[in-house]
Amino acid sequence: MIVALTVAAAATAAYADAGRVPTPKIVIEKGGKCVEDVAVMRRNHMEFLKHQRDDTMRRGIRSTKHSLQQCIDCHASRKTGSVVGSNENFCQSCHAYAAVKLDCFECHSTKPKAAAAAGTAVAKGNP
Ligand code: HEC
Ligand code: HEC
Ligand code: HEC
Repeated sequence: MIVALTVAAAATAAYADAGRVPTPKIVIEKGGKCVEDVAVMRRNHMEFLKHQRDDTMRRGIRSTKHSLQQCIDCHASRKTGSVVGSNENFCQSCHAYAAVKLDCFECHSTKPKAAAAAGTAVAKGNP
């Protein structure tokens, strides 16, 4: 795989400065800034999420800086309302490329909180 990528990079000038992690076209739905610098997020987002999960579970610490729900609130697709399910959706776009599989969404919601709340409001109907 590494050999194949190296060959591809050598063959394609546009690929040469793509960076360490192969990044497909990434859509950021919400403006503003990420919780850390982009370079940091690209490299370390899995550590933030895992550490927080461990802290939350074992020690009851509830920092919200690296909350998974907040990642999803900002990064869910406007079209599909989700971060996974399609290779155009944020988390999956990269992971499909890097062959990463997550079990997170068996338990965690893939949808923004606001959308869930809006869904409830719609379900209740307008007065
Ligand atoms: C078996 C079910 C399950 C799976 C699988 C799972 N989690 Fe969780 N996770 C939980 C529960 C339960 C909590 C605690 C509930 C809370 O704090 O709201 C939690 C809390 C968290 C938190 C802290 C609360 C928040 O919303 O930020 C993060 C971050 C997190 N999980 C990330 C992950 C990631 C990343 C994965 C995949 C690598 C994952 N979880 C897989 C059940 C799961
Ligand atoms: C307040 C909205 C917001 C939150 C919350 C947020 N992000 Fe971001 N994220 C962004 C924006 C906007 C960018 C684009 C870069 C920038 O200017 O900060 C970005 C960039 C990224 C990137 C780099 C994408 C690339 O181009 O390579 C990754 C990875 C990422 N975020 C993951 C996460 C994860 C994981 C979480 C939760 C721990 C999270 N983000 C929380 C808004 C957010
Ligand atoms: C810029 C590309 C990119 C984006 C966007 C991205 N990831 Fe990742 N993610 C990766 C790569 C690459 C790995 C594997 C890193 C490794 O193996 O060391 C990874 C690994 C992970 C892992 C650890 C998996 C494991 O089993 O060890 C978690 C958890 C994770 N990402 C969560 C997320 C979530 C949640 C989002 C969306 C909010 C997201 N990622 C968006 C590139 C990305």
